[in-house]
Amino acid sequence: MKCVTLSVFLVLFFHIADAQRITWYQHIAPIIHNHCTPCHHDGDAAPFQLNTYEDVAKRAAFIKKVTQNRYMPPWKPDPHYVSFINERKLTDEQITMIADWADHNMPKGKPVAGKDDTSFISGTHYGRKPDLVLTMKKAFVVKGNNTERFIVYKIPFELPDSMNVEAIEFTSTNKRIIHHANYEIDDVPANLDLYNTLDYINLTEGSRLDYEQYVPYRKKMIYYGGWIPGTSYESYPKDIGWIMPKRGVILLTLHYAPVGKDEENVSGIQLFFTKTPVKRQIQAVSIGSGGVGEKDIDPYFYIPANVVKSFKLKVTAPEDQSFLYVWPHMHYLGKSFKAYGITPANDTIRFVSIPDWDFKWQEPYWFPKLQKIPKGTVLTVEATYDNTVNNPSNPYNPPRLTYSSGDMKTTDEMLTLVMIFLPYEKGDENIKMKE
Ligand code: HEC
Repeated sequence: MKCVTLSVFLVLFFHIADAQRITWYQHIAPIIHNHCTPCHHDGDAAPFQLNTYEDVAKRAAFIKKVTQNRYMPPWKPDPHYVSFINERKLTDEQITMIADWADHNMPKGKPVAGKDDTSFISGTHYGRKPDLVLTMKKAFVVKGNNTERFIVYKIPFELPDSMNVEAIEFTSTNKRIIHHANYEIDDVPANLDLYNTLDYINLTEGSRLDYEQYVPYRKKMIYYGGWIPGTSYESYPKDIGWIMPKRGVILLTLHYAPVGKDEENVSGIQLFFTKTPVKRQIQAVSIGSGGVGEKDIDPYFYIPANVVKSFKLKVTAPEDQSFLYVWPHMHYLGKSFKAYGITPANDTIRFVSIPDWDFKWQEPYWFPKLQKIPKGTVLTVEATYDNTVNNPSNPYNPPRLTYSSGDMKTTDEMLTLVMIFLPYEKGDENIKMKE
């Protein structure tokens, strides 16, 4: 009798175990395609592709390890302080599934309709083809002499008409060699010749004064944005966005990583337009070093060698505003970064907290709904820097006095918070951001 019970039990057990078997198609592929492939695909930032069964199965043990120790996918903000809509974290259950799958010989399972290995659209994360792609005129060769470089490219454009922008995304043929990109889109005076200056300026090997020749382009900065590994497109809720001028210039600054052999790159911007008129135009402001309130950083912003030093910055919001996203920025000495607002009624509005700063992983963080900031709110940033030998990212050994020279060199330091916002309108706090 006992024996019968046992065998019934065993049959049942194996049946259940079999039904719950973790397979590539059913369980693993959706996790990988949503959380890993955006960076791990051809032309993007990560060193190898994670897309097909073969790509993933042959690295299963490694993937199990980097997901269990939460090295991948990278995500630095403290989720308990503020939870963002672009949060890139695996659940404990997903991590266990990956481990289980890796430990049980990576079963492939049966294909699930509509979900094949290559469903990822190459070249964009936005889910449809861009309406306009504007890139550098020709491929730029990054010399393989192990030097980091800043280059500003001028990309002029003339369109049949101005356009309503629904989304914008950085594009590049070689993201692996780019630390980060910043770009501004400028409207230009009507009589300005868009083509009579250099196509690019080398800020590292050339003269910084060369940049002056681009200054006349800045009649009005229409848009300011950037890219770092992992950043995808930027899109806006209905009626919100910005208008691409008919004629203007993109000034695209690329910060190239040091490379050991010559590499080519073509980068630019892709735009997704909408027929729905943009009723409210977004604005960007940068506070801190090189921006608003630079002189108010307390104490004065410089970091002597061999110290750990903290700074505080306070800037008062001049009007009721609605924030879409916040983007903290520091370099290699950065240790922690926290930003919040204190309203006139003494309430605290949390913006972002990064307790364990990593230069490699910084990006814009999106509030789930527009975040109202009442007029008079004191926007506050607290940042700590470690300029000692105990900081493994310190670019200098022995450490050196470091400050912000208004330059973007990564061996300088910065304390910056970029905010994208709109003047507040009633009901904004109910407007959801697009995922
Ligand atoms: C935000 C972009 C991004 C996402 C998302 C991402 N990776 Fe990565 N991954 C990178 C980059 C860049 C590197 C190389 C630099 C590094 O190792 O720090 C990397 C490195 C790795 C490595 C090698 C680590 C090592 O020590 O050499 C593995 C394995 C890996 N990723 C797996 C994954 C898996 C699995 C996922 C999804 C669960 C994932 N990654 C999601 C960008 C990303």
